[in-house]
Amino acid sequence: MMMKESKWLDQDDGLNRLSEHQSRRETTYLGYREVSMDEKARYVLRHFNKVARRYDLMNTLLSFGIHHLWKHTAVKMLELNPGDRVLDVCGGTGDLALLAHRVVGPGGQVIVYDINRSMIDIGRHKVNGGASGKHIRFVIGDAEHISFADKSFAAAMVGFGIRNVPRMDQGFKEMYRILKPGGKIMCLEFSKPTAPLFRQLYDIYSFHVMPLLGGVIVGSRKAYMHLVESIRMFVLPGELTAMLEQVGFSQVTTRNLTNGIAVIHTAVKT
Ligand SMILES: C[S@@+](CC[C@H](N)C(=O)[O-])C[C@H]1O[C@@H](n2cnc3c(N)ncnc32)[C@H](O)[C@@H]1O
Repeated sequence: MMMKESKWLDQDDGLNRLSEHQSRRETTYLGYREVSMDEKARYVLRHFNKVARRYDLMNTLLSFGIHHLWKHTAVKMLELNPGDRVLDVCGGTGDLALLAHRVVGPGGQVIVYDINRSMIDIGRHKVNGGASGKHIRFVIGDAEHISFADKSFAAAMVGFGIRNVPRMDQGFKEMYRILKPGGKIMCLEFSKPTAPLFRQLYDIYSFHVMPLLGGVIVGSRKAYMHLVESIRMFVLPGELTAMLEQVGFSQVTTRNLTNGIAVIHTAVKT
């Protein structure tokens, strides 16, 4: 079988696309396709409705369980304190929220904020089964219009979610708005592996194994092919840093995970 072409961006491509993304606000990328913002939003909603029930299982299978380590490292980098109020944007089934709750404790509060009711229902069920249940709240809403007051959180985090938000810069602006001065943001997202040989192996795995498993477990090869493509069309760490700085964040740090398969960005609202 022919492998679908892998189209990793290089740094210049990404920078051009970043300014294009901001000037031509009516379109965005859905996998390799340029589509309207509305089409992407509708697709993302349908996608997570379809995968919600098997979302956690698929994450664990596809990453060989490594996503738990990535999430652990990401929440650690947020440097939360007991008593903090934290917003988990695009929080889905609540993995990051559960980790954050362990640090902020019963005196703090963690809110999972997600547009998809099916994902939230799975998350609520998972969280209610444990001791964190009553301290983690779930709220349905759009990352582009966060339904919380200005300066009301000590920290905001987004894990594998911002790629799905059509107006990504708007999502970051909203996270900036709801943070208190001195508040911290953490963004965990897939990226481009740095070593060429490792990247080739990852491409083979991505284009063959991931859609295959998607077909068998979720009943949709296409959904996972789209995931693979969307990772390749996503801005690179340098561009994400530039976007965060444009929004107003400072002290941006990045950390590569597993040769850059995923990258953590943190930044501060000054
Ligand atoms: C890949 S999942 C990530 C879930 C979780 N953060 C994790 O790390 O496992 C992406 C989540 O983003 C949510 N999402 C997509 N677009 C959104 C938007 N515009 N506003 C809020 N949530 C959104 C989806 O419903 C989905 O639950």
